[in-house]
Amino acid sequence: MAAVDPHSFTDSTHPLTTHISLSLYFDFPSSTILASTLISLPTTHSGPFTLDTRSLSITSVLDPTTLTPLPFTLTPPIPHPVFGQSLIITLSNHSQVIIISKTSASSSALQWLSPPQTFNQAFPFVYTQCQSIHARSIFPCQDTPAARIRYDAKLNIPRQLFAVMSARHVDRRAPVVGSGEARGACDDSLWCGDDRVVDDFLMEQPIPPYLFAFAVGELGFRDVGPRSRVYSEAAPAVLDAAAREFAGTEDMIRVGEKLFGPYDWERFDLLVLPPSFPYGGMENPRMVFLTPTVIKGDATGAQVVAHELAHSWTGNLITNKTNEHFWLNEGFTTYAERRIVEAVQGEDRAALNIGIGWKGLVDAVERFKDNMEFTKLKTNQEGVDPDEIYSEIPYEKGFQFLWRIERQIGRPAFDEFIKKYIATFKFQSIDTDTFLNFLKANVPGIENQIDLKLWTEGIGIPPDAMEPVSSIYTKIVSLANEFKLGRMPREDEVADWHGQEWELYLENLPKYVEASQALALDARYRLSESKDYEVKVAFLQLAIASKCRDYFGEVEKTLKEVGRMKYLRPLYTALVQGAGKDEEKIFAKRVFSEARDCYHPIAQGVVETILRKYV
Ligand code: BES
Ligand code: ZN
Repeated sequence: MAAVDPHSFTDSTHPLTTHISLSLYFDFPSSTILASTLISLPTTHSGPFTLDTRSLSITSVLDPTTLTPLPFTLTPPIPHPVFGQSLIITLSNHSQVIIISKTSASSSALQWLSPPQTFNQAFPFVYTQCQSIHARSIFPCQDTPAARIRYDAKLNIPRQLFAVMSARHVDRRAPVVGSGEARGACDDSLWCGDDRVVDDFLMEQPIPPYLFAFAVGELGFRDVGPRSRVYSEAAPAVLDAAAREFAGTEDMIRVGEKLFGPYDWERFDLLVLPPSFPYGGMENPRMVFLTPTVIKGDATGAQVVAHELAHSWTGNLITNKTNEHFWLNEGFTTYAERRIVEAVQGEDRAALNIGIGWKGLVDAVERFKDNMEFTKLKTNQEGVDPDEIYSEIPYEKGFQFLWRIERQIGRPAFDEFIKKYIATFKFQSIDTDTFLNFLKANVPGIENQIDLKLWTEGIGIPPDAMEPVSSIYTKIVSLANEFKLGRMPREDEVADWHGQEWELYLENLPKYVEASQALALDARYRLSESKDYEVKVAFLQLAIASKCRDYFGEVEKTLKEVGRMKYLRPLYTALVQGAGKDEEKIFAKRVFSEARDCYHPIAQGVVETILRKYV
């Protein structure tokens, strides 16, 4: 057997799945899903056929025409903690197979919220996060982005609830008795219960498994444009704020189409999740998932939407073949995001974002100083958990690489290049070499002008990377440098600062200062009370690193109200990293033990790794 992807048991000699048909029965009382997965292959196959699974129990494997059982094994007997187990089915001339399975409470893609954990506190809620390798914890699949799969899904849910997916909603209807639509997921007595409804979905474009997504809860929505709607828990105040925040969505889609070609996914809807959502945004096609922390009535909500929208071209149309080429997704998308931001919010705002990203890149290189492999664009991820090495490197070094090419050939030529790149590779999964070959073929001589090998295979920040040129950027960075000399910015200097200006300022301060200096800054500008989590967390991180214990209360509150890993990582790390932190370590452990149940399983794992490393 030969592997196609270090993160998947998928065998290179087996055909790759082209279609999946799912019947899912949601059992909220036990926080489990009973699933029937019909896998279709492009050719018939005989002999072993391998799928990825994790935390699933496999009830049976069936021949779809005769419904007779097919032999299968699960290996290794003790599941790998990150990759799970391979399900090896023996096929004989099959092009289809059905697997009946059940998720478990530890299925890492799923967060189940009990009614008290939701906004309205009336109904339960469940949602997925499949990137990078969590789809396998919902149903067995070839969980590699090398596979591109169309799907349909029947979601059997309680009648009071509402479902959305990364797919077209086709129908909402009563379950049909005796029709076999449960397809073995569960008995008709369950599937056709009085209190149940079926939502039917269809995804006609082929997508990698990590883009599979659903959410089920008491959802409401507001239209925000001709092809966009924002969904969230059905609370009028939340929906209204979300509708205001995302009013500019259609303008951004138009900018995207002008820059990158037609929007191929028909609709661009948004779902605002509960605060425990572990990311800022996730580009699930037709239904972007967003953290509620971006709703604060300034430019950042639009920035995150611009990013997830940009993935519609870079990521969802052209997909990294494995996570080792993740920069093709995120670096391109960061570049595309900033082009959209520049078009709708102006060059200064884009420069500010580039500057925040630059500092993020410098800090990420520092984080990996003992493991420089993960400062490369193309990385070796054999045996590596993608969630553990997640960083800004693929985003910001990838952005810098593309920006460098833009500077070399000029914007008009680069714009043409990107359009052609997208048109050439759309609906394909590609690797770094494919990109480089296309670049060299379309920009003759580029390899003599830019050290492409250093950029893609070298460690750290190449010498021809650069900071943005912008007067507000320079002003803020020099004010941050003056703080080191003891000068705090005056009121008139910060009068027109919003969250992103403060974020840039705080990030450019030294890692730690005198506790008295942190207190003085906060006394003047009340950063620890900011409604903007980027600002609040940046300040709290500085305060913790400066051994300023006055803020434990605020830190605890923050760690208990949001589950976005961008905030959890730096706060927990600042608490436990370094010497003389006994009090902080005890505090971090207690807060985590109390907050853990509110975090998504992926965030739980990431925090556990941080605590294991330092405590
Ligand atoms: N696709 C990512 C989120 C992701 C990456 C989830 C890897 C799981 C594994 C998404 O597009 C993203 O980059 N989100 C950012 C948004 C930001 C860059 C505007 C985030 O969550 O912070
Ligand atoms: Zn992204």
